[in-house]
Amino acid sequence: LKKIRTVHLAEIKKNGGHFSMLTAYDQYTAEIFDAAGIEMLLIGDSAANNVMGYETTLPITMDEMVVFAKAVAAGAKHSFLVCDLPFGSYEISPQQAVESSIRLMKETGIHAVKIECDERHAETVAAIAAAGIPVLAHIGFTPQSEHALGGYRVQGRGEEAAAAMIHTAKTLEEAGAFCVLMEMVPAEVARRVDEALTVPTIGIGAGNGTTGQVLVWQDMLGLRSGRMPKFVKQYAQLRPIIEQAAQAYKTDVASGAFPAPEHSFD
Ligand code: KIV
Ligand code: NA
Repeated sequence: LKKIRTVHLAEIKKNGGHFSMLTAYDQYTAEIFDAAGIEMLLIGDSAANNVMGYETTLPITMDEMVVFAKAVAAGAKHSFLVCDLPFGSYEISPQQAVESSIRLMKETGIHAVKIECDERHAETVAAIAAAGIPVLAHIGFTPQSEHALGGYRVQGRGEEAAAAMIHTAKTLEEAGAFCVLMEMVPAEVARRVDEALTVPTIGIGAGNGTTGQVLVWQDMLGLRSGRMPKFVKQYAQLRPIIEQAAQAYKTDVASGAFPAPEHSFD
C-alpha cells in the first residue's frame, strides 16, 4: 500500500475510479481500515454521537477532536486523514478557522480538515487553503446546522435547489477546496455536481455518481443498534458478536471456568 495524498484522489477521479472513506476515532479501527486499503479516514465530529453518546454533533470540542485525531494518526500509515473542524471552531472568522486548522495539523498528524459550509464560507475555505492545509468542503445536509435546516432532510431537491448546490460546489472549488463532500443529496444532483467539478467528490446518502463514498464505521459494521438511515449498508453485525462474547465471559467467571490454569501464574 502507498501513502495516499490529494494528488492520488484527484487521479482516481481523472481515471473514472472511486475511492472509499470511513470514519475512525481510535487507533485499532484506524489500523484495520488502513490495512484494508481504505483511501481516506475521517475523524468526524460524529464522534459526538458515536463515541461520546451525545444527541447531536454540537457539543464536541476542539480538545476532544484533538484526542481522537491523535489516536487515529497513531494507527494509520497509508490512509489520507481528514479531521472535522467542530461546531464553534471556524464560524466566527477565517482567522479562527485557520487557527483551528493549524492546531489540528500541528498537534495530531492529520493531513486535511473538513468544514460544513455553503458559499458564504468561500473566504474561510480560501484562508485555510492559503495556509497550506488541504480543505474538504461538506455541503448538502450539514449536521451542525441541524436546527437551522429543520432536522435531517434531503438537500438540493428540485431544479432550483439543484442549481444552487452546483453553484455552491463550484464556488467552494474555486475558493480552494480539494474535495467536496455531499450528505443527503438526490443521486442525480450529486452526479451533476461531480460532473461540474474538477476536484473529486464524496457522498453519503448521495447515490453512486460521486467519486468517493463515506460511511460511519459503527453503522457500516453493525456496532450501533436501532434504525439505520436509508443510506447505510451494513457489511457486518459486530454488536451481537461482542454481546455474546461478554455473556460467555460472564458465564465462565460465574462458574469458575475462567481463569483456567493456563491464564494463571504459578
Ligand atoms: O462526522 C462525520 O461522520 C461526517 C460524515 C457523516 C461525512 O461528517
Ligand atoms: Na462531521
